[in-house]
Amino acid sequence: MPTTPLPAVLPGLGDTDYARYMHTDTLLSLQKGPGDWVHPDELLFQVVHQSSELWLKLTRSHLSRALAHLNADQPSAAELLLRRAADALHLVTEHLRILRSLPPKDFAVIRTALGNGSGFESPGWRLFRSATTELDIAFARLLSSLRLTPADLYRGQPSDPLYRLAEALVELDERIALWRTEHYSVATRVIGHGVLGTRHTPVDSLIKLIAHRRFPTLWEARTELTETYSRSACPGRVPS
Ligand code: HEM
Repeated sequence: MPTTPLPAVLPGLGDTDYARYMHTDTLLSLQKGPGDWVHPDELLFQVVHQSSELWLKLTRSHLSRALAHLNADQPSAAELLLRRAADALHLVTEHLRILRSLPPKDFAVIRTALGNGSGFESPGWRLFRSATTELDIAFARLLSSLRLTPADLYRGQPSDPLYRLAEALVELDERIALWRTEHYSVATRVIGHGVLGTRHTPVDSLIKLIAHRRFPTLWEARTELTETYSRSACPGRVPS
């Protein structure tokens, strides 16, 4: 195994081609240093947020590529990218876990360095949300061009590429809800219940967002099918 790096041949900044290609000098200079910290756990806080933004950037790019495949009538290619985006979102959710160990008294100090900054301003989440809206519209358009409703799709075969694509969208929606569940849990563990965030939003209002759906018609179709099939299985029973 070579221990000394080979000479760098790529253009750019850095001693090695690894540094030049990955832009590690720039990347590793994007966090506050010890001299600027109000608390040493600022590094943890920044690394979790910055890496989340990077994963969300990747996720957003995958959703845009999936949208292009969807519009080109290539459901299987779109599905693959959506599944990878859902995996990336799972990693973003895992990143949150490490913040659980932040003592409230320490986070209270970190908060003094945040100004009015809030997760509501996260560019990664904002772009991710707009990408899911575009996908929702494009998928509805595709189904309508085939004269299908989401419920028709779910009456078909789970191996059908369009059915699989719908399930990849549902998976993504579920991953968003799981992120929000973990985020709410971490936020209340660190700052408690009944307090306001930096955006003056009550922390408990985050719980309402967990039930929010990006692809509502795919969830409504499940309800519709459950009601229809419960009626035909037990004709006397009215679903609640
Ligand atoms: C110590 C950890 C954290 C705490 C205590 C916390 C707290 C909060 C609070 C109180 C809000 C409500 C808005 C406000 O008033 O600011 C919020 C919103 C939000 N936060 Fe965090 N947060 C934490 C970590 C994170 C991380 C790591 C991310 C990743 C980017 C993030 C992303 C968001 C987003 C996107 C929102 C908007 C609500 C939503 O879409 O669900 N937060 N956070």
